[in-house]
Amino acid sequence: MRLTNYEKRMLDGEQGEAVKFSMEILTKIGESYGAETLVEVKSVHAAAVYPELLASVEMMEGFANRGGCFRVPTTADPAHQPCNFNRWPDLPEPAEYLDKARRILLAIEKMGVIPNWSCIPYFQGNTPRFGQHVAWVESSAICYANSVLGARTNRLTMGLEIAAAITGRIPCFGLHLDENRKGNTLVQVEYTPKTLSDYGTIGYIIGKHLSDRVPVIKGLPPQTTANQLKVLGAAAAGRGAIGLYHAVGLTPEAKTEEQAFGGNKPEKEIKIGSKEIEEILGEINTAKSEQFDAVLMGCPHPNIDEIMDLARLMIGKRVKPGIKFWIFVSFDVLATARKMGYADIIEEAGAQFVEGDCILFFAMKDWGWKTVLTDSAKYANILPSEPTCVSVIYRDTAGCVAAATI
Ligand code: F3S
Repeated sequence: MRLTNYEKRMLDGEQGEAVKFSMEILTKIGESYGAETLVEVKSVHAAAVYPELLASVEMMEGFANRGGCFRVPTTADPAHQPCNFNRWPDLPEPAEYLDKARRILLAIEKMGVIPNWSCIPYFQGNTPRFGQHVAWVESSAICYANSVLGARTNRLTMGLEIAAAITGRIPCFGLHLDENRKGNTLVQVEYTPKTLSDYGTIGYIIGKHLSDRVPVIKGLPPQTTANQLKVLGAAAAGRGAIGLYHAVGLTPEAKTEEQAFGGNKPEKEIKIGSKEIEEILGEINTAKSEQFDAVLMGCPHPNIDEIMDLARLMIGKRVKPGIKFWIFVSFDVLATARKMGYADIIEEAGAQFVEGDCILFFAMKDWGWKTVLTDSAKYANILPSEPTCVSVIYRDTAGCVAAATI
């Protein structure tokens, strides 16, 4: 790789052990992907997750113990938060597991992370401008940054983003390059999404059929919001490995279909109509009965308007006995919901907020849950797999509230 003099000095250790270690990782990865240079990144979104994996704890501590210090603004994805440790005595979490979770948080905080603990950093101040290079993890956030903001990041594996935060650099390959951002498949949407979950269902179909291509989506309503695109992208990125999509007339690299394809001919074309939606709902819903142990909402973390809509649905309702009703949410959005009174309505109905966290970071596999109800296509995709292995009932938000409350 061609490095600048400044980068060469970083690699030689002029700026300390953590920078040298990070540069060694970045240059090796860059070379393996054929990157010719590094690019400067304007922000990082980092993950301090998976406390069940000792390797993820040791990796984070390895950077911190070498004197790692973040030099670009670096936000944090949800992680298992001390305020949620063993919060439900009937659903215990092993002390050893919680110790690892605490160690990860201490290590990343020591390096200067902005502790927003949310998978929607782009709504919370980490909002790169069009064309800026960033180094993000979290598949849904990556998809949003590339597609809706027009920023540039690859789907990074954990650890690389920490090296990027310490050096302010990332290898220039993949979605950092113009030629890899052109659309190569066409998605014709012939269905009018009515609920937020409908956008998730469309994203799920795209992820299933198009894997890691760059879809160009036609036919979404012109009034589609950023939040709806958030949900669509999260499901596409979770079900497949979509890092970038273009929605004609809605996203910045797709003012027209021609611009989105950039001269490419579509290699593949799929149609999403009512029939395709019906068929996929049969696949997403893996539960054999209507019984469930918990309702899980907030994937990706909700905006305040989603909390407002949920509060409206829950006025005068009561969560059925024996059911856990959890909404995963960022600290910021929950603080706003408390000020506005929406949190009170939801909590009075018997639901609970889980701040800065995600169900994936709880030691849930030992809880004996068999089935969960969710309004998130991304959760519906992930939860039936290891390590959680539960069946899923997938409904829109109103459907979840109707099924879980009296
Ligand atoms: Fe966020 Fe967890 Fe979903 S990190 S996108 S709530 S799987």
